[in-house]
Amino acid sequence: MYICSNSMITENRRIAGGVYSMLVKCGDIAGSVRPGQFVSIVCGFPGALLRRPISVCGADGEIIRLVYETRGRGTDWLSQQPEGFELDISGPQGNGFTVSGDGRVLLVGGGLGAAPLLFAAKTLGKRTDAVLGFRGKDQIVLLDEFIDNCGNVALATDDGSAGVHGTVADPLKKTLTAGGYETVLACGPRPMLKAVAEICSAAGIACEVSLEERMACGMGACLVCVCETKHADGSSCMSRVCRDGPVFDSSEVVW
Ligand SMILES: Cc1cc2nc3c(=O)[nH]c(=O)nc-3n(C[C@H](O)[C@H](O)[C@H](O)COP(=O)(O)OP(=O)(O)OC[C@H]3O[C@@H](n4cnc5c(N)ncnc54)[C@H](O)[C@@H]3O)c2cc1C
Ligand code: FES
Repeated sequence: MYICSNSMITENRRIAGGVYSMLVKCGDIAGSVRPGQFVSIVCGFPGALLRRPISVCGADGEIIRLVYETRGRGTDWLSQQPEGFELDISGPQGNGFTVSGDGRVLLVGGGLGAAPLLFAAKTLGKRTDAVLGFRGKDQIVLLDEFIDNCGNVALATDDGSAGVHGTVADPLKKTLTAGGYETVLACGPRPMLKAVAEICSAAGIACEVSLEERMACGMGACLVCVCETKHADGSSCMSRVCRDGPVFDSSEVVW
């Protein structure tokens, strides 16, 4: 079930470069959203037609948190909306991460992919560790909050300006070698997710990935967001990222 509502912005502040953290008061969504689900927002620039999908980064009482980067006209418009402005927002949408069970969980995030994983970290608590990757130190976001909510946090940057030099692949392999994880939950750019899926498959560890595709209806009707997935018998089909995902078992995705 998802809800459309007018929901008030209670905070909208820049936290790094073009990245903003927004708090929105929408009790119905906050009360039912799970990590990995997203909301769709009407952006009010002239000619705007499609809602913009943004993952939920946290929920507390009646408030949801969104962390987003300005990419184009929609997110740029969003960044300019003041406290007290009423957003037309719908959600929670899609299938989220598995956050049941009691085993150790490793979170692997690339760039803004860290946002939904912070929600998972807050839900799962200290039985999570995290491996986070960013382009460089100026693009790092949410790191302190991962440190507060997870056990161990490993950091990598593409340019070596903070943490390990390189992608999340090396710290991920090292962390998995230490063992003890039941599942890996990952969100980030598709090439990163493919690498994470391969590393987890080689290590024999279950992995869920959150995919991003451009969306139109966001409700499973238009098929704009489809990606190829496969069944256990090897046959393939097209799945809707908005409705069947955005979270998939990594072994189902045709990379
Ligand atoms: C399920 C889901 C969850 C998301 N969660 C977040 C989030 O938590 N934080 C965040 O900052 N962004 C998130 N995104 C991406 C966000 O929806 C897009 O950046 C946004 O819609 C761009 O809108 P715009 O009008 O600003 O840019 P546009 O003018 O529409 O596009 C600007 C640029 O962004 C690219 N782009 C647009 N939409 C997407 C998309 N869906 N995936 C990849 N590239 C895209 C375009 O190709 C173009 O290069 C998510 C996307 C999906 C599908
Ligand atoms: S966006 Fe229309 S089916 Fe997914």
